[in-house]
Amino acid sequence: MLFMKHIHILGISGSLRADSTNTIILKTLGSLLPSDTTFEIFEGLDEIAHFSPGLPDTEPVARLKAAIAKADAVVICTPEYAFGVPGTLKNALDWTVGTGDLNDKPVSAISASPLNSGGNNALASLLLTLTALGTKKTDACALSIPNVKGKITEGRVTDAHTLNELRIQCTNLLSLIGG
Ligand SMILES: Cc1cc2nc3c(=O)[nH]c(=O)nc-3n(C[C@H](O)[C@H](O)[C@H](O)COP(=O)(O)O)c2cc1C
Repeated sequence: MLFMKHIHILGISGSLRADSTNTIILKTLGSLLPSDTTFEIFEGLDEIAHFSPGLPDTEPVARLKAAIAKADAVVICTPEYAFGVPGTLKNALDWTVGTGDLNDKPVSAISASPLNSGGNNALASLLLTLTALGTKKTDACALSIPNVKGKITEGRVTDAHTLNELRIQCTNLLSLIGG
């Protein structure tokens, strides 16, 4: 008998704002996944202590690492602050360097911005970090979403082009899990 492996995907938002456009994008992406795939968004990035080599994992750090371990793939969606990745997100990723939690993990990196640039600087920086962390990705595993505010209605992405791009991220990610 052939058993299909259950697929679970973790979303991490680089924004802590309650009505974050990046978190909305993650939620929309989650809703586009096949119905037998489970999806969760990590809560508590703001509880993660400042990283310094040698510090023990606190409970929120251990929770993040457990959430990554449980996931077959990770999607990160982030805003750009001052041309870079928000410190909160970079700090969380730094905790995974020494323990290799993201090593070989399929990833999708998404940036979203109210500006025309789509948060391209943050996306480029995030991709460099994800390369350093040994994640599994291709050039297709990256998406920047410009002018994001006009693409969301009532807490959901409604722009057809963006929905299609998110579907492509889902397909890429699922094929990386299998491959
Ligand atoms: C301190 C600060 C710096 C910002 N710097 C940039 C930037 O460099 N590039 C950019 O595209 N947007 C920048 N923005 C705008 C953010 O992209 C915008 O606030 C975005 O909606 C935040 O994402 P969220 O809705 O998920 O919280 C900045 C916003 C703040 C508050």
